[in-house]
Amino acid sequence: MSVLDTIEKIEKDGLEFIHNAATSEELDAVRVAILGKKGSLTQILHSMRDIPKEMKAEVGKSANIARKAVEEAISAKSEELSQKELEAKMSAEAIDVTLPGRVRPIGTRHLIANVQSQICDIFVGLGYEIVAGPEVETQYYNFEALNTPPDHPSRGLQDSFYVVDASGAKTNVKGESNVLLRTQTSGVQIHTMEDRKPPIYIVAPGKVYRKDVPDPSHLPQFTQVEGLVVDKGITFGDLKGTLDYFCKKMFGPDRKTRFRAHYFPFTEPSVEVDVSCGICHGEGCRFCKGTGWLEILGCGMVDPNVFGFVDIDPDEYSGFAFGMGAERIACLKYNVPDLRMLLDGDMRFLRQF
Ligand code: DAH
Repeated sequence: MSVLDTIEKIEKDGLEFIHNAATSEELDAVRVAILGKKGSLTQILHSMRDIPKEMKAEVGKSANIARKAVEEAISAKSEELSQKELEAKMSAEAIDVTLPGRVRPIGTRHLIANVQSQICDIFVGLGYEIVAGPEVETQYYNFEALNTPPDHPSRGLQDSFYVVDASGAKTNVKGESNVLLRTQTSGVQIHTMEDRKPPIYIVAPGKVYRKDVPDPSHLPQFTQVEGLVVDKGITFGDLKGTLDYFCKKMFGPDRKTRFRAHYFPFTEPSVEVDVSCGICHGEGCRFCKGTGWLEILGCGMVDPNVFGFVDIDPDEYSGFAFGMGAERIACLKYNVPDLRMLLDGDMRFLRQF
């Protein structure tokens, strides 16, 4: 093969390799093979002195043309490849700002917290104030000042969690500690009447504790909302009107209420309030155990003996009190079949409210 043919072949093959180079590295390898120190074209240019005189000009010219062609092709291809590589790098490292972010589910208020505020809001709307009381009580506030002395039978009805008194000194006749987790929010009535003078219109929501094994209708810890009104001229009519209004606000205007005689140590007379069943509307069904009514709260006129403990003159003032379980009201309003579902923390259940 003549030198000219070799040059032509180097150029032709070179341009083809350049065209097919997929990366900058491949392209550089082609450059080195043709134009590098020991490259095929470089060698030809270096060996010009061996070329016969009459051919020198022609060989030199075509070698330079070939070199120029290869150089130009390399620089064009190099630009193209580095542009491509830059684009690939950018798209590999790109952050798609239009992608939706990771959504963290937002928590909700617990059903009981909601029902507790629904109850309180109704009374706040009537001008009542919300007050709090301690969850750890003495026997005096939980029982005695509520007209429930140590030997009173109703104390046996509510099995209490006594807090062991380290000194052992403050125990009652049965050897029980004087300190207990409150079994009812009614003690807040006493704290309130000690702290302020009538007129009193308050609701007191909070946790209460009883030694009960959890079952569909019992929990060892639950929530009560206590209410107390003390003013001049408060009558049983006020109690009925207020609690009938409450029930209709809570359960719906078409619901009826009924007041059944009952017994609580701290009220006289005492009643339990039932609301007509929202499922059968009084006909009787499984939900209301065939009675057409659902029991929702206890209440009554404040017993004059209770006023005696807090120095309120029963000839000047009268009042009514009421207490209800938020869990029970929640279950009745939202048809929850088992109180324990309120404690399970199952989000599929809780998200419904
Ligand atoms: N403390 C009572 C209970 O836990 C509920 C109750 C009944 C509260 C009558 C009252 C009331 O204020 O007047 O069962």
